[in-house]
Amino acid sequence: MIHIIPKPTDTTDDNSTAAVAGQIRSQGGTCELIDIYRIDPFMPPFEHEIVWVCGLTQDEHQFEVLQALSLSNVLVNTPQAIGTCASKVFTTALLMRHSVPSPRTLFTSSKEIASRFIEEHGRVVIKPIYGFDGHGIFLIDTPGQLGNPPYYLQEYVPNDRDFRIFVIDGEPVGAIMRVSDTLAHNIHQGGTGIPSEIDDEMRSIAAAAARATGVDYGGVDLLRYHDSYCVLEVNGTPNWHCMAAPIPALLARYLLEKERDLKA
Ligand SMILES: Nc1ncnc2c1ncn2[C@@H]1O[C@H](COP(=O)(O)OP(=O)(O)OP(=O)(O)O)[C@@H](O)[C@H]1O
Ligand SMILES: [Mg+2]
Repeated sequence: MIHIIPKPTDTTDDNSTAAVAGQIRSQGGTCELIDIYRIDPFMPPFEHEIVWVCGLTQDEHQFEVLQALSLSNVLVNTPQAIGTCASKVFTTALLMRHSVPSPRTLFTSSKEIASRFIEEHGRVVIKPIYGFDGHGIFLIDTPGQLGNPPYYLQEYVPNDRDFRIFVIDGEPVGAIMRVSDTLAHNIHQGGTGIPSEIDDEMRSIAAAAARATGVDYGGVDLLRYHDSYCVLEVNGTPNWHCMAAPIPALLARYLLEKERDLKA
């Protein structure tokens, strides 16, 4: 039995959880949705099972319960990987440590150091450390626009689109490009997703980013950068909107394989 924590943002028309659950069943597996708010972290209702975290409200309650559940179950993704991906700072640190190309980035609480970074780069992108869906991302070019610390600042990489590569078990399996005339091309910001080929550079960079952040599966966001690509972030509970690849079937197959390995 695969236990599924449903995506809180699912709707009747756009239901990631149901798409994968349907595939698990049609591939011969069994699954059930669990309500994380009803789980007692000190007395988990099951053990030695696969728990697929389709989505998560990263509030204090859900993340803590996930950690407790992972003591006696296999979580996909692990709470560690989900936590890593939720933090832009830790993600960047891991990407740098594993020599995965990423834009030049500064994280500081010093307005003076942040100001120097802006002067050096002319214009920079400022992002919330725990952002999502392109919220709170702005292009700034003067220290007066800094607001309150801490500051996560990134060199602005000129582009008219970004790429989301869906990686499962180290393998890039699908990609879209997102195009818009605003800074953040996220679909939630009005970007249009178009299925994209995965070239060799994308493949190796996206796989390296997934490895560096420790995700079983994830969505790796790329921009074109110096004739190649750089990684902006890895999403630990990614959407697969507009992908041409059959992501629900591939995810279901992966989860069932994990379950077989666990029970072997
Ligand atoms: N350094 C940069 N230079 C140019 N554009 C950028 C840069 N960083 C981010 N962007 C734009 O903003 C978008 C969102 O950035 P990013 O993926 O880092 O944040 P997010 O809000 O966490 O998004 P997600 O919903 O994918 O988690 C990017 O896909 C890209 O279009
Ligand atoms: Mg992103």
